[in-house]
Amino acid sequence: MEEELKQVQAEALMRIQGASTLAELEQVRQAVLGRKGLLAQKLPNMREVPPEQRPVVGRLRNEVQRAVQAAFAARRAELEEVERRRKLEVERLDVTLPGRIPLPGRKHPLTQVRDEIVDIFVGMGFTVVEGPEVELEYYNFIALNIPPDHPARDDHDSFFITDHILLRTETSAVQIRTMETQEPPVRIIAPGRVYRRDAVDATHSHTFHQVEGLLVDEHISFGDLKGVLQVFAQKMFGQDVRMRFRPDYFPFTEPSAEASISCFSCGGGGCPLCKFTGWIEILGSGMVHPQVLENVGYDSERYTGFAFGMGLERLAMLKYGITDIRLFFENDLRFLQQF
Ligand code: DAH
Repeated sequence: MEEELKQVQAEALMRIQGASTLAELEQVRQAVLGRKGLLAQKLPNMREVPPEQRPVVGRLRNEVQRAVQAAFAARRAELEEVERRRKLEVERLDVTLPGRIPLPGRKHPLTQVRDEIVDIFVGMGFTVVEGPEVELEYYNFIALNIPPDHPARDDHDSFFITDHILLRTETSAVQIRTMETQEPPVRIIAPGRVYRRDAVDATHSHTFHQVEGLLVDEHISFGDLKGVLQVFAQKMFGQDVRMRFRPDYFPFTEPSAEASISCFSCGGGGCPLCKFTGWIEILGSGMVHPQVLENVGYDSERYTGFAFGMGLERLAMLKYGITDIRLFFENDLRFLQQF
C-alpha cells in the first residue's frame, strides 16, 4: 500500500515538475488535484479501507496530498519568477538611448510683431478690441466717410460677398463698431486680418493684417497723436528713432498724415532699406473726421480724436529684413524657425 502511494506521489511530482509554463501548470493541477484527477483516482477511498488500517492509510494519504500540494506551490512560485524575469527582459528600458527632443512651437513672426505692438499700446492705456472679418458695407465704408465712388469700393478691389457685405478691407471698420457701443473716452487698438483683391507679388497679398488705433476724448489734439505715435515708434524701433509727419488723405480723418520714422538701418543717411531717402513710412493717421464722430452719435463739437492704422506685414518685413510678403503665409518651417 505504502509503495503504491509513493508511486502516485512520484508520478504527480514528475508531472508538476514537467510543467514549463503557468498555463501548463494549471492543466497539470486539474489533471492531478482535480475532482477526477490522478489523486482522486489513485488514492484509496477511506470508506473502502478496513477500519483497523485507517489510521495508517489516512496518514500516508495526507502525506501524499501535502507533498503534492507543496510541490505544486513551489513549482508555481518558480514559474512565476521565470515569467517575471521574461517580462522584465522584454519590457526593459534602455536608459542609454538618446532622448527624443520635443520641437517646441513658437509664435509666427506676425504674431510676435502684433504682440509687441499691442503691448506698447496697452502700456499707454489702450484696450484691445476686435471686429468681424466679414463686414457690412456700412462699417467698412459708409460710416467711415468713404464715398461711393472711392476706388476701394470697386468690386475689383474688394471681396464682396453680397451687395452690402464684404471681407473687410481695413480694420478701420472696428472704429465705428467700438464708438457705436461706448461713450468717450475711447482708447482702443484693433489688430486683425483684412482682405483686398490685390494680385499677389513680393509686396502684395490678398490677405494681410493691420493694427488700428483710435483715441477720442475732450481736448484731443494733433499733438497727442504725435506724442503717442512717437512713443510707439521709439519703443518699437529704438530710442533714437525720429518721426516725420506729412500730409496725406484718408476719408475718415482730417487732417490726415502719413507717418515715417528715420531709417533705423542707416540712421537717416540713406541706404537700400529706406530707398536712400532716410525715411521709412510706417503708418497712416489723422484726426478723426467730425462727420465720422457724428455718424456714431458723438458730439463733434465736444469730442475730438485721432486714429491710425498700420500694416503688420510691412512692419515685420522692415523689422526682420524680409523681402517677400508671401513667406508669411507659406508655413515653410525653414522660414518660421528663424524667429
Ligand atoms: N485704413 C487705412 C488703410 O487701410 C489706414 C489708416 C489710415 C487707418 C489713417 C486710420 C487712419 O485709422 O487714421 O490704408
